[in-house]
Amino acid sequence: MDVRLKTQILSAGEAAVAAAARVLAEGGLVAFPTETVYGLGADATNSAAIAHLYQAKGRPAFNPLIAHVGDIAAARKIARFDAAAMALAEAFWPGPLTLVLPKMPDCAVADLATAGLDTVAIRIPAHPVARDILRTFGGPVVAPSANLSGHVSPTTAAHVQSDLAGRIDLIVDGGPVAVGVESTIVGCFDEPMLLRPGGLPRAEIERVLGRALRQASADAESDSGQPLAPGMLASHYAPRAKVRLNAVKLEAGEALLAFGLGAISGIDAASAVMNLSERGDLAEAAANLFGHLRALDGKGVGTIAVMSIPKEGLGEAINDRLRRAAVGRD
Ligand code: TXA
Ligand code: MG
Repeated sequence: MDVRLKTQILSAGEAAVAAAARVLAEGGLVAFPTETVYGLGADATNSAAIAHLYQAKGRPAFNPLIAHVGDIAAARKIARFDAAAMALAEAFWPGPLTLVLPKMPDCAVADLATAGLDTVAIRIPAHPVARDILRTFGGPVVAPSANLSGHVSPTTAAHVQSDLAGRIDLIVDGGPVAVGVESTIVGCFDEPMLLRPGGLPRAEIERVLGRALRQASADAESDSGQPLAPGMLASHYAPRAKVRLNAVKLEAGEALLAFGLGAISGIDAASAVMNLSERGDLAEAAANLFGHLRALDGKGVGTIAVMSIPKEGLGEAINDRLRRAAVGRD
């Protein structure tokens, strides 16, 4: 963007929430914490604000956004809930679940936010700061992760600042987030379908549905030829460094992203070492994932070697993000 904005940074609290609601109402852009990752919010009904949001992120305009609302009543004005969607909303909202649902005919969310699709992604976040902002603002807020397009999602206000300072109006600093990976996205416009693994493990969703979730393949396309969840496109989350998965031996000069206390040969020649969770805890690993990737990438290392990480529970989302980070960029 050619216009450089002065980005204000406020610690979470009453004044910050009031300022955030004011900026949103005026069509501005506010980064705020959710329990999954920091989001970059704009008034979901204001196309001009949403256009600025795409610009600020450098995001391709075909990638649709998640509308964040404060309660189920607000969600039902936007989208049509079938029985499965209702069951999931009641079980997991507020929380790290996004539902993609058919739009209501008079849906207030701007077409630009849904990239012209006839479905809309909705979530009720659990973070108290996000909830306070939504309540005070009083309308739906679209909020993609608050990073430049192609970068990993921010889990602290400092990450947001390093990507978006000068491009947005306000950052509300609520400290590091709890979950650390984005919400799980489930489509309920047909058979319930997993569109993106995330902070809510698949098994918990399947327990509520009483059946297995269909799996959308990464190259699945909707009728309009749009990807079902463009966030699933292979190289979405990419550090500058090359990422090598399931490393059992370290090559000289590589940085190591470890998990647990298992041994790995060649560690003495590592250029840097960070551990996602020494005690092998997947929730701790998810919370550390993007911050550790950013920190190792920030050291300018050529390759980040990642030890293998179990695939169950939150491990599905962690492995998914690591696979994307590992897709070659050149
Ligand atoms: O945890 C999260 O979900 C965070 C926080 C801020 O809420 N948000 C987030 O937003 O990760 P974003 O924009 O980075 O990812 C949203 C994903 C994208 O992959 C997008 O393609 C998909 O949701 N999506 C949005 N609307 C959709 C729709 N109608 N159909 C299919 N996928 C959709
Ligand atoms: Mg994102």
